[in-house]
Amino acid sequence: MEVRFRDSRIDRTKADLLVLPVREKRVDTPEVDVLNRRLKGHLRAQIERSKFTGAEGSALLYPSAGMLPANQILLIGIGSASESVLDSWRTAGARARKDSAAQGAEEVAVFFSPESDSEAAAAALIEGALLAGYQFNKYRSNAKGSAQPKFLTLFRPGLKTAAPLLRSLHQAQTVSAGVFLARDLVNEPPSVATARFLGEQAEEHCRGRGLSTEVWNKKKIEAMKLAGLLAVNRGSHEEPRFIKIRYQPARRSKKKIALIGKGITFDSGGLSLKPPKSMETMKLDMAGGAAVIATMSCLPKLNLDVEVTGYVPTTDNLPGDNAQKPGDVIRYLNGKTIEVLNTDAEGRLILADALALAAEQKPDSMINLATLTGACVVALGPRVAGLFSNHQPLADALLHCAADTGEKLWQLPLVKEYKDMIKSSVADIKNIGGAHAGAITAALILQEFVGDLPWAHLDIAGPAFAESESSLGPKGGTGFGVRTLVKFLTSL
Ligand code: BES
Ligand code: MN
Ligand code: ZN
Repeated sequence: MEVRFRDSRIDRTKADLLVLPVREKRVDTPEVDVLNRRLKGHLRAQIERSKFTGAEGSALLYPSAGMLPANQILLIGIGSASESVLDSWRTAGARARKDSAAQGAEEVAVFFSPESDSEAAAAALIEGALLAGYQFNKYRSNAKGSAQPKFLTLFRPGLKTAAPLLRSLHQAQTVSAGVFLARDLVNEPPSVATARFLGEQAEEHCRGRGLSTEVWNKKKIEAMKLAGLLAVNRGSHEEPRFIKIRYQPARRSKKKIALIGKGITFDSGGLSLKPPKSMETMKLDMAGGAAVIATMSCLPKLNLDVEVTGYVPTTDNLPGDNAQKPGDVIRYLNGKTIEVLNTDAEGRLILADALALAAEQKPDSMINLATLTGACVVALGPRVAGLFSNHQPLADALLHCAADTGEKLWQLPLVKEYKDMIKSSVADIKNIGGAHAGAITAALILQEFVGDLPWAHLDIAGPAFAESESSLGPKGGTGFGVRTLVKFLTSL
């Protein structure tokens, strides 16, 4: 789909589908008037009949029957201005994309009003339209996919220079390519998307100006004493990998950031085996790692002055005959020990290595993403990620970015009194807490490995994988986190 910008009047715009975003209870815009006049009053009549008010999620499709250069009109409700403004533009873009596909429209023109709508809104609208077009068809025998629009034209009268809009377009295209990469990596079947595969994908996608990738094999991982990753990998035939991606800006960097992602390519639970139902979607367990790889892959195109290192420890978690056992103790490179009482609490075991390693570089902030706990899904449901942080300004910055991208984050507390729940009788800590607050005890375990550095942990167990289609994408991997991370790095 090609995106372009035009200086055009609404009654002169040729398209298969002309989209007009309408704010809630603001159906009396000059544009609706113009269209209504050309349609001999039928549009208003239809608006009244169908009780279209511009509420978010509502839409009205109207054929222009030769009375306009556009074949059909689609009014899209974008809700009231008090709601998250950018997100309603994103959803409108997604809706425009989906309805055009359903109508078989090749040329879609979206009216973009001069008063209310900034470049950020344009970026959000384009982003929504791009994200909604994602499909994962490589394992279908009839992989035609649905027809997709060829052109998306944003227009308004008197549009002088497209330069700022072209920047918005570039931004939206870069970040959606990143989101698609993360979705692809998650959607790939787990026997294909092994640790080795993830390493190869990182090498393939994370290169270019300022970006370099290193993939450590088992020997190197042993030499580096990444004990948690080795312990989890013991039950598997596949070798583990440790992926390290570095972005060094051309200009002197303002900040140094570490991104760490959980890369469990399949989580069977290990000897503490999961029941079959819980295993069905456990290829999702590398979604944090996928988000880190995908975010890093965007950086050369964004020209940021930030130094960023991505760390992805990756292996599957299987109950092979050499698997780690409940009761085993892992000794980490920072000297700390963890007693493994449940091999299904494996994410924290591999993240501990990566956090300790990242902390050695003394970054200004560390952010980790992990499909860490079912408890977080119980607490926040499938759409919202849990945010934990030892540094409120970092948490606030992430919350702020997430509000813009529409990726929902909700901060949960690091309750230090709950450290009692992870006390071990033989080691420094154990890898599981008690019956309650599972998302918090998991976060407290991670915190043991970050020292005093500003750190944020995103538990994305819910939103990493969609059990059903949503406005921005189909069932499956969502690429959650990529947009917020890119936004965060851009905002530094
Ligand atoms: N990968 C799972 C967490 C998960 C659950 C992600 C559901 C996505 C959806 C993680 O490794 C896990 O198994 N966690 C256990 C921890 C428990 C054993 C302390 C859990 O949440 O049950
Ligand atoms: Mn697990
Ligand atoms: Zn897991």
